[in-house]
Amino acid sequence: MTSAEPSAPSPVVLVGFMGCGKSHVGTLLARLLGLPFVDTDRLLEAEHGSIETIFAERGEEGFREAERRVVLDTLAGLAEAPAVVSLGGGAVSDGDVRAVLRVAPHVAWLSAPVDVLWRRVHRAARRSGGGRPLARDEVSFRALYEERLPLYGEVATAEFRNDGDHSAAEVAEWVARSVREAS
Ligand code: S3P
Repeated sequence: MTSAEPSAPSPVVLVGFMGCGKSHVGTLLARLLGLPFVDTDRLLEAEHGSIETIFAERGEEGFREAERRVVLDTLAGLAEAPAVVSLGGGAVSDGDVRAVLRVAPHVAWLSAPVDVLWRRVHRAARRSGGGRPLARDEVSFRALYEERLPLYGEVATAEFRNDGDHSAAEVAEWVARSVREAS
């Protein structure tokens, strides 16, 4: 490739706890970068049915197994077909997923205080009439948050605060700028 040729767009993976805004920011970010947006939770649901149903029928273990496969397949496809990918909040619990993320060029961690996340997931649940299976009990939600923080830190190339002080559009702009600067 000569220096006059534009470089191929880099894929971006969004990680972070439930309610951090991965799907909303990811959709806007994909538009800014001119890339498709892929949400691995939606891929999982297209293949296996709703997340609530997977948890109810197969338990968390069955959900993690299905999630792992979809996430690893999606990440493997990114070199050929770059995209902005949003991962479910628990995808980083898998060591193989973390190993792939550690060498990925752009892994953006959307972070927010746990109180903000708890409020957001409950607002979303009231609107949709459903709810995330791991967001039913506040004490376990908070414990899971603490447990996951080091995992996001381990895989992220950058952290972006999405705590409500700035719009999702602004957060998407920050991520897009950092991706462009690093590419
Ligand atoms: C989960 C997060 C959810 C979804 C599932 C489990 C988790 O995705 O994958 O309910 O373990 O944190 P979001 O982070 O998009 O809510």
